[in-house]
Amino acid sequence: MGMEKKTHFTVDKSKCIGCGRCIDTCSGMVIEKGKDGFPEMKSFERFGWRGCWRCQHCLAVCPVGAISIFDKKPEDSLPKPPAEMGAYMESLVTNRRSCRRFLDRNVDPDTITSILSAMEAAPTGGNSQGVEYTVIDDKDRVREIWKVAYTKMEADAKKHIYTHSFDDFFYGKMKQSEKTVRKDDLLFCGAPHLFIAHEKCAGKWAEDNKVNCNIATAYFELLCNAHGLGTVIMSYPGEVLSELVPEARAMLDIPNDHYTKLLVGFGYPEIEYARGVQKERKRKIHRYSERG
Ligand SMILES: Cc1cc2nc3c(=O)[nH]c(=O)nc-3n(C[C@H](O)[C@H](O)[C@H](O)COP(=O)(O)O)c2cc1C
Repeated sequence: MGMEKKTHFTVDKSKCIGCGRCIDTCSGMVIEKGKDGFPEMKSFERFGWRGCWRCQHCLAVCPVGAISIFDKKPEDSLPKPPAEMGAYMESLVTNRRSCRRFLDRNVDPDTITSILSAMEAAPTGGNSQGVEYTVIDDKDRVREIWKVAYTKMEADAKKHIYTHSFDDFFYGKMKQSEKTVRKDDLLFCGAPHLFIAHEKCAGKWAEDNKVNCNIATAYFELLCNAHGLGTVIMSYPGEVLSELVPEARAMLDIPNDHYTKLLVGFGYPEIEYARGVQKERKRKIHRYSERG
């Protein structure tokens, strides 16, 4: 493979102060100080470990906005989060919970667009950015998919056929939950919309590909919660779709060789909560400085 410089890395020499931050933060180690003292891109073999990771740290770190890469201009970046975001994030994380009762209406499309745009920034191993998102943002379409899956699930249950994690007893319990918490719907918890992260898993990074999907799921939940939307992360419907409903992947437009596990149901919550929960934290934290 020949050497290439496909990054369109440009330095505005009237702004650059020669601080070297771009060189010190470059994951691919492909920026160096040129003879004129300004940073420049080395030639490299390819993108990835031996080349540009496309992470744009050079653009983001520059204190004077002198660097553009991939034709991205620093002035188009969003500003840094304000310092008080720490307390806000803590409140967001400690108040997050599963929402299993939703209003029967579509979420404002602009809110979904805004969330999905931020989801482009979810981290991926090696900055591969290979995770794809299936978003069913129309409640009638969710209902159609639901109907196919729910009908099959019920028919199988009559024959005592379940997904690998369910059995007669557990299914019976979940049926009971349709009277209260999962109103009429033990499968999707009545969510009007679905979000599914999926990625092709291949080669030695296959485990990272799976982790990418699960990180995206967590980011999506918090973004939804920050916009006042309820979310429920679910593994059971994923099992139903993959183990009992052969046509599900086609309905959701998920290729057969993609890893997918969790579904996120989301929508406007039906029930307001007054405060956060208080999970057991101590037992999970192995903090070196607090060891006796
Ligand atoms: C990996 C994973 C799978 C889950 N699967 C389901 C599910 O299939 N159905 C469901 O109603 N909730 C599901 N949940 C939600 C958990 O049951 C829920 O997080 C737990 O009851 C604690 O409640 P909280 O989310 O309100 O803190 C899942 C959560 C996770 C993290």
